[in-house]
Amino acid sequence: MDRYLVFGHPVRHSKSPFIHTLFARQTQQELEYGLAEPAVDEFAQALRTFFDQGGKGCNVTVPFKEQAFTLVDCLSSRAKRAGAVNTIKLTDDGVLLGDNTDGAGLVADLKSHGVTLADSRILLLGAGGAARGALAPLLAELPSELVIANRTHTKAQQLAAEFCDLGPVTAQTYEQLAGPFDLVINSTSASLQGELPPLAPALIHTDIAIYDMMYGASDTAFISWAKQHGARQSMDGLGMLVEQAAEAFTVWRGIRPGTKQVLRELKRNLGVI
Ligand code: ATR
Repeated sequence: MDRYLVFGHPVRHSKSPFIHTLFARQTQQELEYGLAEPAVDEFAQALRTFFDQGGKGCNVTVPFKEQAFTLVDCLSSRAKRAGAVNTIKLTDDGVLLGDNTDGAGLVADLKSHGVTLADSRILLLGAGGAARGALAPLLAELPSELVIANRTHTKAQQLAAEFCDLGPVTAQTYEQLAGPFDLVINSTSASLQGELPPLAPALIHTDIAIYDMMYGASDTAFISWAKQHGARQSMDGLGMLVEQAAEAFTVWRGIRPGTKQVLRELKRNLGVI
């Protein structure tokens, strides 16, 4: 049977095996999908061993995405832009192809929630790996403006400079931000510590959509805060997780699974509904 897995550390709580097992069942593909948690300095060897032993493809998550970028034979253009690899496929020619489906997953999830990206003003909070992966797919949707704000402003400036050939992207400090924005995407890891990015409440209005790439059994700190200040629509990153997985599954198997039912089952599994 074709073998896939996700590499991460820690990875025990990953939902990827659950999601890909449902995709396989739905599309009647024969495959198994497992977990691998190599020591941080043993990822390269573990990756080699997996493919030497017949593995067909894998996902890569924290903290290995940047290292995976350096270990594959060939990079997709979206992986090059993201500077990170979250999906690897062994091609029929024996080439390890590195791809990145995170940004495509974000855009697919935003669209499935009915969020309009074309001609919109988007505020992206954070300038780490998650922000980098999102920029090219967001700019491809032709927003009228995309502003990056980050605690460490120089990182936002660097990102804006790197992506400004793709669309109208600029960097501003949190203090400089002037609304109205149509969509705020929180790519910071602040919610992991239950913290908030230092965003002025005045930027939240009833007609704004809020997206937090993090997720949990209850609202993230950022979503609670935005709701409290009147945000009309808020979304967490669970849908992005399922959509990036669907994109990876499509890369591996050449068949696109449906995501709605899988997202519903995942929410049930997490106790969200
Ligand atoms: P990831 O790969 O998930 O993006 P990362 O590269 O470590 O992770 O980036 C984390 C991002 O969250 C950074 O933009 C970080 O801001 P700094 O560049 O100033 O470190 C941001 N971040 C983390 N905690 C934050 C907090 N409490 N408030 C605001 N931004 C925060």
